[in-house]
Amino acid sequence: MRKHQTSMTAIGIAIVRGIESEKPEGERICYDPYARQFVNGFLYNFVRFFDKLGYSEIKGPGVMGFLAARERHIDEFLKLQIRAGVKQVVILGAGLDARAYRFEELDPLRVFEVDHPASQVSKKEKVESIFGKLPTHVVYVSIDFNSESLEKRLLESGYDKSRKTLFIWQGVTQYLTPAAVDSTLAFITQHSPVGSSVIFDYMYPTLLDGTVKHGEVAKMRSNRWMSGEMMTFGIPEGAVKDFLEKRGFTNVQDAGQKFLHDTYFHGLNAKRTVAYGYAIASAIVK
Ligand SMILES: C[S@@+](CC[C@H](N)C(=O)[O-])C[C@H]1O[C@@H](n2cnc3c(N)ncnc32)[C@H](O)[C@@H]1O
Repeated sequence: MRKHQTSMTAIGIAIVRGIESEKPEGERICYDPYARQFVNGFLYNFVRFFDKLGYSEIKGPGVMGFLAARERHIDEFLKLQIRAGVKQVVILGAGLDARAYRFEELDPLRVFEVDHPASQVSKKEKVESIFGKLPTHVVYVSIDFNSESLEKRLLESGYDKSRKTLFIWQGVTQYLTPAAVDSTLAFITQHSPVGSSVIFDYMYPTLLDGTVKHGEVAKMRSNRWMSGEMMTFGIPEGAVKDFLEKRGFTNVQDAGQKFLHDTYFHGLNAKRTVAYGYAIASAIVK
């Protein structure tokens, strides 16, 4: 992360959500009506133009499909946890995530948006310009996961460790050190009650080390000088259950390429692809 720059990956993902959300109701995989407003209009239209020409699929086949399915899958898990009586939601590396604003069921709860200060300043400005003010149910917590304590920052921001909590960690683990991933998971198991939950996506290390070649990973690598964000962390295919059980979780679910495609891509979308090498894990604190 660059110190004074909004995360470029957060902007890119919001653009993908915006493009998907423009599709008719029966066709889109996910829906975020605010994504378009969170990003610069020129940049949005530029990416949208090349996407319509098929450029995204040439550069990273199935990546748009994975990102849309990831948003949807995590939304479905969030709905499930709301029904199961979650009392707090912590969005780790929130970027331009709009769940706190698009799920009205979250209004009576407390939502903590935790992010790098560089990303958070402009997010808050955007939220104020879209809604006229910052919503009272959202608490903005700034942090550098690689060097600061999540425990300290969340506890001093009013996080209540006695409340059943859902932790959403979308599009972040791949940019962290293994120690930062471990300490975040340890925070979750040590500071939230039994029945709390986590959902996060991760990459297979074979993409990171180049064993499996992906255009978008190579592009991230060559753009590192500009974004300051590099993919470094992965969990091998099939290993996440063991990984999370060893860290105090149970009921581990792993949604990879096939699951996501079979679950969300039907009818007009049946021919769309979901990239191999990315997966979404969810688990419950035991
Ligand atoms: C790919 S974006 C994902 C944003 C959002 N979760 C989403 O899916 O739209 C990565 C996010 O992780 C945050 N991030 C990356 N490295 C971080 C760090 N070391 N400390 C805090 N936040 C970090 C960035 O600020 C950014 O918001």
